[in-house]
Amino acid sequence: MPVITCIDDLKRLHARRTPRMFYDYAESGSYTEQTFRENVTDFEKIRLRQKVAVDMSNRSIAGEMIGTPVTMPVALAPVGLTGMQSADGEIKAARAAEKFGVPFTLSTMSICSIEDVAAQTTAPFWFQLYVMRDEDFVDRVIDRARAAGCSALVLTLDLQILGQRHKDLKNGLSAPPKLTIPNILNMMTKPEWCLGMLGTRRRSFGNIVGHAKGVGDLSSLSSWTAEQFDPQLDWKKIARIRDRWGGKLILKGVLDVEDAQRAADFGADAIVVSNHGGRQLDGALSSIRMLPSIVRAVKGKTEIWLDSGIRSGQDVLKALALGADGTMIGRSYIYGLGAMGEAGVTTALEVIRKELDTTMALCGERDIRNLGPHNLLVPKDFEGDWA
Ligand SMILES: Cc1cc2nc3c(=O)[nH]c(=O)nc-3n(C[C@H](O)[C@H](O)[C@H](O)COP(=O)(O)O)c2cc1C
Repeated sequence: MPVITCIDDLKRLHARRTPRMFYDYAESGSYTEQTFRENVTDFEKIRLRQKVAVDMSNRSIAGEMIGTPVTMPVALAPVGLTGMQSADGEIKAARAAEKFGVPFTLSTMSICSIEDVAAQTTAPFWFQLYVMRDEDFVDRVIDRARAAGCSALVLTLDLQILGQRHKDLKNGLSAPPKLTIPNILNMMTKPEWCLGMLGTRRRSFGNIVGHAKGVGDLSSLSSWTAEQFDPQLDWKKIARIRDRWGGKLILKGVLDVEDAQRAADFGADAIVVSNHGGRQLDGALSSIRMLPSIVRAVKGKTEIWLDSGIRSGQDVLKALALGADGTMIGRSYIYGLGAMGEAGVTTALEVIRKELDTTMALCGERDIRNLGPHNLLVPKDFEGDWA
């Protein structure tokens, strides 16, 4: 067994054990990948304030996210094609999250269906919705999520058209992968992955195939998205979805102060300050850089969560200290899944928990709820002076 001490270790194993097209799918941003890179490097610019001679016994990093108790405020973000990183990947990740005591979010573009995940887990999970042109499909998938006991709807607002990721086009990304010579040669170097895939029937988009009308070839994600996703999604349509759902609503992909105000006035239970992990609008600012202005605008009116760029418990601490009420992780758990299946997701969560707890202690805090700007050293020009 390799010794895993950080998320980067899992990333290296993921690269080794998962077919190239799926690792690349996870490890890419749109266009030049500037935003993808800066999501990570901007966290590094924030430093921590060390405190000594304070009682650091009996620490707690537990909290709540939209009223749900969590062992740490870190939810698993929705990630499409998770079941291609490892066979039945969504079920494995959901189980790891359940055992660990953090929420799991199932993507519309998952391989395992809502019903599959519900049947294989006991804790309620959250369902992430992409809004399609086909209103019937949208209504039915919302009803399916409710029937499966999903406890919140995560409505993603920043992907009505797909940001171009060069590698996916070059690799001919598809689920399942096409049996071309280069793909076969690459898959032959990933025997465990192949065995897993041969042992499952879940190899296509479980929420869509058999549920959406006229779905032929889903394998080209980019052209399918262009045909099916509703480019007219606006606040009126969001209100229609909220009314149809009738439960807790999280608006994901907010990166602008005015949008955050609108989402808070709209009554969202939480917003996720996110640029989709740098996969959509390349050139947008990193989430962590946008966070302080959004916190100033809407703190207390709605829960503010942050994702994009979190690769450690230290990053989680920085987001919370800057005013986030919670966080989500995408790639950090996907690396774990691609590396070691369910055990890898658990390892990713354990790595983050330990880093968060140790860092909190060395910052002189015993309760995660007491974190604040006093724990950080933030460069004066961190937010930038933009015209
Ligand atoms: C491979 C991959 C697939 C994703 N698919 C979805 C998706 O289906 N729905 C969604 O709302 N967000 C999706 N996201 C975005 C994540 O929910 C999250 O915003 C992002 O991963 C956060 O950045 P991080 O990976 O740096 O943590 C995806 C991200 C990745 C890396």
